Amino acid sequence: MDDQLANAVAERYEKQWILAAYLEAEWGDHFEVVRTPEPTGADPRYPIRQTFYADVADLVTGLARARYGDGDLSILDIGGGTGRFLYEWLLRNPHTANAVLIEPSVGMTRFARAFLEGAETVTEAPYIGTKAAPQTQPFRRPTPPSAVGSLTIHNAKAEEVELGDGSFEIVCCLNVVDRHNDPVGLIAYLAQKVKPGGLLVISTPFDWEPDYTPPEQWFMDLRQVTPTGWGELATKDFVWDFRYTLRKATRFLPQVAITAKPA
Ligand SMILES: C[S@@+](CC[C@H](N)C(=O)[O-])C[C@H]1O[C@@H](n2cnc3c(N)ncnc32)[C@H](O)[C@@H]1O
Repeated sequence: MDDQLANAVAERYEKQWILAAYLEAEWGDHFEVVRTPEPTGADPRYPIRQTFYADVADLVTGLARARYGDGDLSILDIGGGTGRFLYEWLLRNPHTANAVLIEPSVGMTRFARAFLEGAETVTEAPYIGTKAAPQTQPFRRPTPPSAVGSLTIHNAKAEEVELGDGSFEIVCCLNVVDRHNDPVGLIAYLAQKVKPGGLLVISTPFDWEPDYTPPEQWFMDLRQVTPTGWGELATKDFVWDFRYTLRKATRFLPQVAITAKPA
């Protein structure tokens, strides 16, 4: 049963139209979209808000600085998608000692490498179209942040990568728990990887689907699943916009919860 749910999630994040939606949500402000006029009359550049990753990076950076100053920190991003959150983190934190992105989708990882590391093997990206046929567009990469030398990208599930317990000052997992077959188990796993005194950053739009998570495991407030004894540093909602097709856009309002492990 769990394998079936995990396979459904894995299939979702290899679909071209899903990848197109994520690329726009994460990197749309960096796409140089070269389009012929849309024959259906839909405006392919209708603006959606693309501030979620910068908003979260600002919040986490402020809390991390208050705790650690400008120290050389280790950060882990699980289910990091096409990498925009770590990009925003590295821009704000050039002294990062170790940044690790773990992402099981082959397609997402490919673009994380292109955008973060400047991998030049990728020159075209799927762009919003219809569900059956996303368009393909050339794109321009941002200049990689100077701290990119500290970054390692793993194309794997969280549970498949050997990570020492207590080895990261900051562990992030953005918008993944509602796409996991055991969300509370995943949070317990993330908590193990945080150093004593370090930060756990979780966000979710609670967009639960029975195909991905058994309904008896759904919850609607991250504070219900915070590890026992951890301090609550911030709980905030941010806007997270998506266009899935030229005629379907969705605004999510994920809750972002940041807690601190006892020192
Ligand atoms: C909704 S997307 C969020 C991506 C990115 N964090 C963001 O906020 O844009 C969920 C991501 O979780 C990843 N994922 C699903 N199961 C995972 C697992 N067991 N370990 C790590 N990542 C996983 C998916 O491949 C997908 O990229």
